[in-house]
Amino acid sequence: LNYNVKRDRRFILDILFNGLRRLEYRGYDSSGISIDYSSSDPNSQLSFSAPPLVFRQEGNIDSLVKSVYKDVALMKLNLEEPFCIHGGIAHTRWATHGEPSPKNSHPQTSGAKNEFLVVHNGVITNYEVLKETLMRHGFNFESDTDTEVIPKLAKYVFDKATEGDQSVTFSQVVLEVMRHLEGAYALIFKSHHYPNELIACKRGSPLLLGVKELSEDMRSGALFLDLNFISGNGHPKELFLSSDASAIVEHTKKVLVIEDGEVVHLKGGGVSILKFENDKGKCGNALSRPSSVQRALSFLEMEVEQINKGKYEHYMQKEIHEQPESLTTTMRGRLKHGGSTKAKTVLLGGLKDHIKTIRRSRRILFIGCGTSYNAALAARPIIEELSGVPVTMEIASDLVDRQGPIYREDTAVFVSQSGETADTLLALEYALENGALCVGITNTVGSAIARNTHCGIHINAGCEIGVASTKAYTSQIVVMAMLALAIGDDAISSQARREAIIDGLFDLPNKVREVLNLDQEMKDLAKLLIAEQSLLVFGRGYNFATALEGALKVKEVSLMHSEGMLAGEMKHGPLALVDENLPIIVIATRDTCFSKQQSVIQQLHARKGRLIVVCSKGDAAAVCPGGSSSCRMIEVPQVEDCLQPVVNIIPLQLLAYHLTVLRGYNVDQPRNLAKSVTTQ
Ligand code: G6P
Repeated sequence: LNYNVKRDRRFILDILFNGLRRLEYRGYDSSGISIDYSSSDPNSQLSFSAPPLVFRQEGNIDSLVKSVYKDVALMKLNLEEPFCIHGGIAHTRWATHGEPSPKNSHPQTSGAKNEFLVVHNGVITNYEVLKETLMRHGFNFESDTDTEVIPKLAKYVFDKATEGDQSVTFSQVVLEVMRHLEGAYALIFKSHHYPNELIACKRGSPLLLGVKELSEDMRSGALFLDLNFISGNGHPKELFLSSDASAIVEHTKKVLVIEDGEVVHLKGGGVSILKFENDKGKCGNALSRPSSVQRALSFLEMEVEQINKGKYEHYMQKEIHEQPESLTTTMRGRLKHGGSTKAKTVLLGGLKDHIKTIRRSRRILFIGCGTSYNAALAARPIIEELSGVPVTMEIASDLVDRQGPIYREDTAVFVSQSGETADTLLALEYALENGALCVGITNTVGSAIARNTHCGIHINAGCEIGVASTKAYTSQIVVMAMLALAIGDDAISSQARREAIIDGLFDLPNKVREVLNLDQEMKDLAKLLIAEQSLLVFGRGYNFATALEGALKVKEVSLMHSEGMLAGEMKHGPLALVDENLPIIVIATRDTCFSKQQSVIQQLHARKGRLIVVCSKGDAAAVCPGGSSSCRMIEVPQVEDCLQPVVNIIPLQLLAYHLTVLRGYNVDQPRNLAKSVTTQ
């Protein structure tokens, strides 16, 4: 921050802690913070030379906050001490290298004097070589992290550059450090040698700069936001660097999406951005002259309310219940009613120049991880049916591991809520190298997948904070159903089918509202299942994905073992698990697979299976042998077959949610997981 008026240390701490809380859903095993020990105000009584303070703590942000305030009190640090300019950094961690502990938390430091401090999102793949080299130069390492090499390398570069009274700028030091780093990173550097300066840079991992410009009369609360370009004008500013918009949006909506190879230098309250030409991820020679960047700021669409829980206890609960609205937003402006003479159609603006190429593809590949993969699996049948193009499914990491063949005639569709998942990004890089048309389906405008694909569709589900994806899943399915409609738009033979699906889409939010009424019923079911060790979910056709996704929800948040299985494979192995104790959910709503699912239920029933059946409304007696008394029935509204997975997943989302609460686990921060996995 750079103020003409002063702000105190408590204000600075509050901004940083609040930012960490907003980011906590991305990692929450440990955290840390660094602020200045002494004010840079020339009139301050305190010494300039004291190095920055660093606090690090295992556990969630609340434990960091408590320990910081405890330490601050012990140190008798004055919370009211004023600052005109101050650069603070903070980090919440999802462990990759080294267990969660204070020593492995960030900021990582160059040594006891905190000369260089770094917070890092990503993974440095060549850290072992760098560590060995630095150790040979006398550096001692304290943590088990890959990150620690970065501040130590910065100190090494700084010491070398300043030998014999030479001077070096902070950005020169960082550019030289970047030249040696391999892997993915978004980094922020703070240094005792460069008070009031911060440097951020990135390759692979996301980074945003938020600009809040405050007019002279900011003291009365008015904001001056007429800023098209970042310039060194003299207005007081608050500048925010974050890997995620949710930490910035309550301060400003004006952001600059930082690109790979860019180095952001905050100095004296102003900003300069340098661009280094990348050579396979390494920066050019730090001594060559980098060009400066001038880019228009973008405007965040996100609202602060979206990242609050509102009347709900948990984000997951809120996001499950807001699906009628999120689906409406996903479809807004994209479905055309037609009218008496015109056909009903779908308009996907982001694909308009590419739809013919997709239609003529030799193959469509869907690529994603976790829930995003499951959503694509749910949409595969309708894409195949309406396009006639073969569709293959790829888990992103597996495609890259196998280096599976991809051709110029292929369309590769990358599905990712965050748009930043490292495995999906690597697969995208691979598909681009192989010349495929790359389409992105993401929930995050400006994300790496949105930027690096040739064209795409935003799902517009609104910010999703719960680590277990819910509303993004249903919006992804709807977007892919609309994609199927757009690809098949030229076929007269399927027009009636397409119009029926469009009608179904119009009505879908109402059906979702109806199925959400099962909340109490799913809570009651959760009470029955609370102590179970394991749960199987069987589905097929459109609802194979529902089985996988339902089981994923249960295992990731309630920590109960759960497997989703293709019902057609039941007799080839899983049937051996069936007894009168193991609870089994079977999805048997009406579609072309219905009679096959009826015989699956018969076979399970004959082996005394403990059945819970999801069926279409009014079907309970028909679906279960011996009537609904022998199975527990969950009746859901019937919709068009290809949209049925959107409705069917909701009782399973509710079940996972209630099981988690009843079992006493953290719904929004499940053990060991993170919302956005930006490391491989
Ligand atoms: C993580 C999250 C999952 C998510 C997956 C893919 O594992 O915990 O909820 O489905 O990443 O994320 P993406 O952002 O690419 O959809």
